[in-house]
Amino acid sequence: MKIIIVDDDESLRLHLSKALNRRGHYSLAVSNGNEAIIKLRNEPFDAAVIDIQMMGKDGFQVLQELKEIHPQLIGVMLTGHGSISSAVEATKLGAYDYLTKPCDISELETVLKKGFHGVIRAMKPFKEIYHGIVGKSTEIKNIIRIINKVKDSPLPALICGETGVGKELAARALHYDSKRSKHQFVAINCASLKTDLLENEFFGHVKGAFTGATEVKDGIVKIADKGTLFIDEIADMNPSIQASLLRFIEIGTFRPIGSLKECKVDVRIIAAVNRSIEKEVEEKKFRHDLYYRLNVCRIDISPLRERKEDIPLLLDYFLASKISADNSKITITPDARKLLTSCSWLGNVRELFHVMERATLALEDNPTITADIIKSVLPVQKTPYSKSLSGISLDSVEKVSILDNLKINNWNVTRTAKILGIDRRTLQRKIARYGLRE
Ligand SMILES: Nc1ncnc2c1ncn2[C@@H]1O[C@H](COP(=O)(O)OP(=O)(O)OP(=O)(O)O)[C@@H](O)[C@H]1O
Ligand SMILES: [Mg+2]
Repeated sequence: MKIIIVDDDESLRLHLSKALNRRGHYSLAVSNGNEAIIKLRNEPFDAAVIDIQMMGKDGFQVLQELKEIHPQLIGVMLTGHGSISSAVEATKLGAYDYLTKPCDISELETVLKKGFHGVIRAMKPFKEIYHGIVGKSTEIKNIIRIINKVKDSPLPALICGETGVGKELAARALHYDSKRSKHQFVAINCASLKTDLLENEFFGHVKGAFTGATEVKDGIVKIADKGTLFIDEIADMNPSIQASLLRFIEIGTFRPIGSLKECKVDVRIIAAVNRSIEKEVEEKKFRHDLYYRLNVCRIDISPLRERKEDIPLLLDYFLASKISADNSKITITPDARKLLTSCSWLGNVRELFHVMERATLALEDNPTITADIIKSVLPVQKTPYSKSLSGISLDSVEKVSILDNLKINNWNVTRTAKILGIDRRTLQRKIARYGLRE
């Protein structure tokens, strides 16, 4: 199995990693959630062993983000004594199981293997799944057909579609189903980096290139050699880098910052945009010649509301990926399905999965997601008809109200408490009582 270990305790993570490797697995140890996210985007893993209490993002938050990249990932949480009340709670938060520290390596291996076989079993009914892409609509079938046609082409690919439609998923499928799959899939987001940093990220620099450049740094173009470079939100790329990228695509060479020497690499470029790139070209914000180069293998992913027949399948897939060691199964009523199918999903599949995630969190003793639960977790404007609270317990209403307001306020407890009209300590108690997490 391929396992990633996330723990800020260095000796523990290295110990676990070595022990798992000795047992014939491939494991990798990282010290925090962000590193884990980068690794998981770059290569697929079967399971993650995650410490719950870490500096920065806590374990469940890390698990949630990892599962967004790879929903079938088996999450085994490591906890200190008594920090989590039950396996049910861990399962609700997306974990397969949890072990108390110090954990016994044989026990960990047994849990991981059981989880692995469980996932294989749970995913068996999904014949329509292609590298994580689920769907039976003609649109999805067409996308899979195009991916198969262009996956081994050296030409750039351009993936277009609204937020959350699965552009990155398609990009990874293009890479992992190609001859390049043994090499790196490197992702970079143009919207999240400033221009000078972006140039440096792309092409790297030589020693002494600028103040502070005390060491040589390879750019991602070099790291992705023989593999794939996924450039996300390319429409946000600054014109000066657009020029360097165009040059790189045209002649296949680049110059690290401060270097006079041309470097040659073999990289497949996949770019993604979530708004009309043609409009950017028209408004002269995006170079026409670069657009022309990128727009060779084009994949358009339509919004979820235009392929509603995929929704039931996506729901089944979401629920199947919620497997847990205690075999608890979450089901969904036909009414809830109908309601979910009628929404417009401006955030597409990502939003659908988030709503399902919140519905799972709102479950109490009965593991059935009903239409009422869905209504209580749907953002108000998404509910197709006026929201009635009849039949919903006060506790559920309170929980959802707290969760919604926390999210809107970026989990700022002071501000949220003010809006809810309660004091900070009361809010903190309620957050703990409902087990809410960012
Ligand atoms: N057809 C699909 N089958 C299964 N999961 C999907 C599908 N489409 C999207 N997802 C899931 O939805 C989430 C969002 O997908 P992804 O990150 O690929 O979207 P995106 O188009 O890159 O969005 P953004 O523009 O916001 O970056 C991921 O968890 C992904 O696994
Ligand atoms: Mg994306």
